[in-house]
Amino acid sequence: MPLVPPYIESLRPYEAGRTIESVRRQYGLNHVAKLASNENPLGASPKALEAMTRDLKGLSLYPNGGLDLREVLAREYDVKLDNVIAGSGSEGIMSNIIRAFLCDDDEVLTTDAAFIGFQVLAKSRGVKYRTVPYDNWHYDLPALAAQINENTKIIYLANPNNPTGTIFTRHQFDEFYQHVPERVLIILDEAYFEYAKDNPRYPDSMHYRYDNVITLRTFSKIYGLAGVRIGYGFAHEELIRNLLKVKLPFEPSTPAQAAGIGALADKEFLHRSLELNARGLRYLTDGLQGLGMKVIESQANFVMTVLDSEQDASRIFEELLSQGVVVRPLKAFGLPNCIRVSTGTDEDNQLCIEAWRKSYGANVAAGRTG
Ligand SMILES: Cc1ncc(COP(=O)(O)O)c(C=O)c1O
Repeated sequence: MPLVPPYIESLRPYEAGRTIESVRRQYGLNHVAKLASNENPLGASPKALEAMTRDLKGLSLYPNGGLDLREVLAREYDVKLDNVIAGSGSEGIMSNIIRAFLCDDDEVLTTDAAFIGFQVLAKSRGVKYRTVPYDNWHYDLPALAAQINENTKIIYLANPNNPTGTIFTRHQFDEFYQHVPERVLIILDEAYFEYAKDNPRYPDSMHYRYDNVITLRTFSKIYGLAGVRIGYGFAHEELIRNLLKVKLPFEPSTPAQAAGIGALADKEFLHRSLELNARGLRYLTDGLQGLGMKVIESQANFVMTVLDSEQDASRIFEELLSQGVVVRPLKAFGLPNCIRVSTGTDEDNQLCIEAWRKSYGANVAAGRTG
């Protein structure tokens, strides 16, 4: 027996985007625009920061497993405490779902090039991981339904989806749901729901609850708390009860829980972040399309561009990097010819389009791209 199981040996460790400091040093730049990880360019919610600071005096005591945040969420969403879980980011909860519910012969089903965090977690469990291709960069829900078999245990859907930024509608979900047996658990990852919630075509899953669906959400995106690691989920009490058995007893940490509670009350910050993002999405989409790029219409805080080849994508990535703009090449997701650009401040969005124009212009002049 090898020490390391083959399904772990074959995994590639998660590669986070480049840090601002390392790019600044490498290229001797004063300013770097980090548009690689779908973070909030306004920083963290001020109310979250206040709440964290207030709670620092309790750091010598163990936290209460997210109970305070769960109570606030239960009140806010009008559900029972038993329907809510809090964890170290939504990925922390995903990891608990995988640990609690997957047996060796179970299978996971999702789209090709799904959110990489989920890919890594599911594959690390060593179960069969099956995917279907996108349909015009949207989840192909009918194709997914057709792939469900007696071993399917978890179906992962992100709405809006990362990295494409696309959504599915309530009608599409309901059609799909008719084909899903009760024994199958659907993870509905709504990390970006705040960005899409005002779109009438977007279905907020808190308005359509099913017993075998777990909704996951996070404070990492619109509330600017990615570094704190705090997320939450809603599900049937049986599912939550079992998740609570496997979760680390003391996650989330005291400051993380306080930050989440503070952030939920920060409507002003939410509003400002949404406005900046809407402007950024329009600017980046128009700017990139104006350069002849194929851009997928996004309902989140990033846009995906589809280039002609992997070489084009890595060339643009490197050239943007050298000009102080960090974007996300999507090879690790399984889309080697695609690049994802997060919305930034107005200035950073402009810097990105300007840098892209320079790189692209240089490539056209050299006859390298079309
Ligand atoms: C679809 C999706 N789900 C979950 C996450 C991770 O969220 P968290 O920081 O709460 O673990 C991300 C982060 O990029 C994401 O894109």
